[in-house]
Amino acid sequence: MARVLTGIQSSGRPHLGNILGAIVPAIQLIEQNSQEESFIFIADLHSLTTQKDGEIRKANTLAVAAAWLAFGLDIQKTVFYRQSRIPEVAELTWYLNCFTPFPMLANAHSFKDKSSRLADVNAGLFTYPVLMASDILLYSADLVPVGKDQLQHLEMTRDIASTFNRVMEEEILTIPEARISEEVMTVPGTDGQKMSKSYQNIIDIFLSDKELKKNVNGIITDSTPLEEPKDPDTCTVFKLYSLLASEAQTKEMRAKYLGGNYGYGHAKKELLDLILTKYGKERELFNFYMTHPEEIEKRLVEGEEKAKKVAYPLLQKVRSKLGFN
Ligand code: TRP
Repeated sequence: MARVLTGIQSSGRPHLGNILGAIVPAIQLIEQNSQEESFIFIADLHSLTTQKDGEIRKANTLAVAAAWLAFGLDIQKTVFYRQSRIPEVAELTWYLNCFTPFPMLANAHSFKDKSSRLADVNAGLFTYPVLMASDILLYSADLVPVGKDQLQHLEMTRDIASTFNRVMEEEILTIPEARISEEVMTVPGTDGQKMSKSYQNIIDIFLSDKELKKNVNGIITDSTPLEEPKDPDTCTVFKLYSLLASEAQTKEMRAKYLGGNYGYGHAKKELLDLILTKYGKERELFNFYMTHPEEIEKRLVEGEEKAKKVAYPLLQKVRSKLGFN
C-alpha cells in the first residue's frame, strides 16, 4: 500500500497541458489505489515566490480547486487541501532548512535557471525545494506523481529525508518515490513548444465556446495549400487531436492529412468539436464550481481537517526529537 501525494501551484487556471500531464494521471492513480487515502493539495505557499497579489492568488487557488473537482477528484478517497491552511508545513520547512546543504540548493534547476539575475531571486525561490520536501515528508507520502521537471526536487527530498533520519538515528521521515507521468504526455502548445503558461501558448479548455474557438484557431500551422497532402507528424493540431481522440479517430484524421484536400481549418474545427464533446461535463462542472465557491470551500475545509490530523503527529515527533517539546 502506497500513499500518493501531489500538488499543483496556484499560478493560474489549469490548461490542457496541466490537465493531461498532471490532473488526469493523478486521478487515475488515485482510483487504482483504492485502499489508501491520497493527498492532493494546492501549493499556494509556493506561488508566493512569484505572485505577490493576494486577490490573484485567491482566484487562482479557486480555479485550480475547481479544475480538480470538475475532473472528478474523489474527495471520499482523497485529502484535498490548501497547503497554506496547514501551517505546520512552514515549521517543518525551517527544521529541514537546517539539514539542507547550501550547494544542493544552489544546484537546483529551478534556481540555476534564474541565477544569472540574482537580484531577482528571493530567498523563498532559493529554498523552494525544501518547502516541497516538507509538503511530501509531513504526510509520509510514498509515491509522488510529478512531471519530469520536478524529478530533481524529488531527489532532493529523498536526500534531505535520509540526512535527517541519519542524524536523528531514527527512521522518522518516509523516503518517497517519484512517479513520472510526463513521459507519456508531452503536450504541445499552440506554437508547437511544450505547453506552458510562461510561453503563452496554452489551450484553455475552460474558456467559453467562442473564446475556445479563437484559442484553437490560434494554433500555428505551416502554409501547405489546402489541396496538398500534409504531414500529420509535424502538425501541432494533429498532435493535440491524437492526445484526445480514440485510436480510430486518430487514424481517420491521419488519412485525411495524407489524402489532401483537407485544410488545417478543417482539422482545427474537428479538434475544437472534440474538446467540446470530450470535456462537456468537465466544462460545465468547472463553471458550476467557479460560480459556487462555497461548494469548493466546503470540500477544502473538510480536507484540511483531515490533513491536520496527519501532519500534527509527525511534526510532534520531529519537535520532540529536536528538543522543542
Ligand atoms: N513544484 C511543483 C510544481 O511546480 C508543485 C509542488 C509543490 C509539488 N509541492 C509539491 C508537487 C509536492 C509534488 C509534491 O509542479
